[in-house]
Amino acid sequence: MEQTFIMIKPDGVQRGLVGEIIGRFEKKGFTLKGLKFMTVDRSFAEKHYADLSEKPFFSGLVKYIISGPVVAMVWEGKNVVVTGRKIIGATNPADSAPGTIRGDYAIAIGRNVIHGSDAVESARKEIGLWFPEGIAEWRSSLHHWIN
Ligand code: PPS
Repeated sequence: MEQTFIMIKPDGVQRGLVGEIIGRFEKKGFTLKGLKFMTVDRSFAEKHYADLSEKPFFSGLVKYIISGPVVAMVWEGKNVVVTGRKIIGATNPADSAPGTIRGDYAIAIGRNVIHGSDAVESARKEIGLWFPEGIAEWRSSLHHWIN
């Protein structure tokens, strides 16, 4: 089953949006597979955003992500990478549609509340980086009442 990496950024945590964001993914029907509340250091943030290291906004982005705790999550379900990005909305909140997380809760691209993997392959890499210990698994079929 497809998985994606979702991170609630420090502004989303500070503004008390954690429950709202988790609720949107749950209500859509996706399954929470991993969740950690953590702060990351500069070298970890630089690794996560390595593809953007040449961008002019890179140092500001890293400073923002290390500024406070984030909520790192793995969500699972059919087409969760693409659908998760739709739930999140366009990167720049000026372009995100109302009804999306960024469309409802963000104004500035530099404080856009949440990150979601942009492809199945980057999701795999990001999950490996953020959850090197692996994620919890159900040990019996007792959870079948959920889906
Ligand atoms: S790019 O330039 O097209 O590769 O970037 P984009 O895909 O639009 O965004 C990649 C991530 O960079 C963040 N971003 C910024 N942060 C701070 N300031 C500025 N100006 C800025 N522009 C882009 C953007 O939020 C994306 O972060 P994530 O966490 O992946 O959503």
